[in-house]
Amino acid sequence: MGTDLDQMQRDWLSRISAAADLAALEAERVAALGRQGAVTRLLKTLGGMTPEERQAEGPRIHALREAVAAALAARKAALEAAELERRLATERLDMTLPVKAGPRGSVHPVSQVMDELAEIFADLGFAVATGPEIEDDWHNFTALNIPASHPARAMHDTFYFEQGQAPSSARHPGESRDLSSSRPAEERQGDSGFRRNDGESEEGAPRRMLLRTHTSPVQIRAMQAHEPPLYVIAPGRTYRSDSDATHTPMFHQVEGLVIDRGITLGHLKWTLETFLKAYFERDDIVLRLRPSYFPFTEPSAEVDVGYHIENGRRVLGGADQWMELLGSGMVHPRVLAHCGLDPDQWQGFAFGCGIDRLAMLKYGMDDLRAFFDGDLRWLRHYGFAALDVPTLSGGVGA
Ligand code: PHE
Repeated sequence: MGTDLDQMQRDWLSRISAAADLAALEAERVAALGRQGAVTRLLKTLGGMTPEERQAEGPRIHALREAVAAALAARKAALEAAELERRLATERLDMTLPVKAGPRGSVHPVSQVMDELAEIFADLGFAVATGPEIEDDWHNFTALNIPASHPARAMHDTFYFEQGQAPSSARHPGESRDLSSSRPAEERQGDSGFRRNDGESEEGAPRRMLLRTHTSPVQIRAMQAHEPPLYVIAPGRTYRSDSDATHTPMFHQVEGLVIDRGITLGHLKWTLETFLKAYFERDDIVLRLRPSYFPFTEPSAEVDVGYHIENGRRVLGGADQWMELLGSGMVHPRVLAHCGLDPDQWQGFAFGCGIDRLAMLKYGMDDLRAFFDGDLRWLRHYGFAALDVPTLSGGVGA
C-alpha cells in the first residue's frame, strides 16, 4: 500500500506539472480531488477500514491529498503568471497614435485678458473677488456714496428690475456677510421681495434690484466679507443702457481695491504702472494722473497712458500723446465707513478699467461690437487656443 501511495503521488505531481494551461490543470484537479476523483475515492476508503488500518493509512492518504492540492495551487499560480506575461508581451496600446481631432473651440479674447489680469495681479499679491451681476442699489450706488440725484442712477442709464422680476437667487452664492454691530444698518434687507423706490432705500426696506453698472459694488462686498488688509481685483460683466460703435449694453470691467494702513496715491500709481507694463509687455509705459471726480474716491484721478505714432498707428509707450485708460482714486472715507472700517486706521485705493478696451488695445481689434456678435470667423481669428501663451499680435488698434 505504502509504495502504491508514493507512486500515486509521483504520478499526480508529474501530471499536474505537465498541465499546459489552466483548462488542462482544472481537468487534473477534477480527476484527483473532484467528487469522483482518484484521491477523493481513496479518502473514502478510510471509512471501510479497521481502526488500526485507519491509524496507519489515514495520515498517509491525507498527506497525499495535501501534496496534490499544493501542487495544483503552485501550478495554477505559475500558469496565471505566464498568462499575464504573455498578455503583457502581446497586447500593446500604442500611445503615440494620433487622436482623431474633434471640433475645438477657442478662448474669447475677453476671457484671455481676464486670465492675464488674474495672473499679473496674483504676482502682486492680489486675490480675485466676485459679486453678483444682478445687484441691489445699495451696493451699486448708495454704499459707494453715489447720491440719489446722480445721473448714473437715471432710468436711461441703468437697467432696473420691476418689482418681483429679479430672481430671488440673485444673491451671489459665494457672498458671505457679516452683520455684526459694526456693520451698517442699511445692510439689513427684508425678505419680502423687491419694491420700487426711486430714492434712497429706507433702513430695512427691500432694495431695488438692477444690473450692476460697474464692478465697484464688489469693493463693498469684499470689504464686508473680509477684514483688511485687502488686495483684490474683480473682473466681470457690467451693464449700461448705451449702444454705439464704442459702447455695448454689456461690457467688462476689472475693479482693483487695496485696503491697508498707510496707503497713498504713490502705491496706486506704482501698482498701475507695474500692471500695465506687464500687461502690454513694454517697459516704456508712462502714466499721467489727471484730477477727476468719482463719488466713491477722494481724491479721484483719471489715468491716461502715453502713446506715439509709428507708421500711422498708435503704439503705447512714451509720452508723446495721451489716451484715457481708466478711473481711479483713494477710497472715500464715507465708503470705508459704510463697510464698517475706521477711515483713521485704514486707507486704500481703487481703480476701474474696461477689459474690452484692454483687449482691443493689446490685440488690435477695432470694433467693440464684434466682441459680442458671436461670429465664429471672428472668434477663430482673434480667439486663443486653450493652452496658448499669448503674444502681442495686433498692437494698438484703437
Ligand atoms: N466705477 C468707475 C466707472 O465705472 C471706475 C472707478 C473704479 C473709478 C474705481 C474709481 C475707482 O467708471
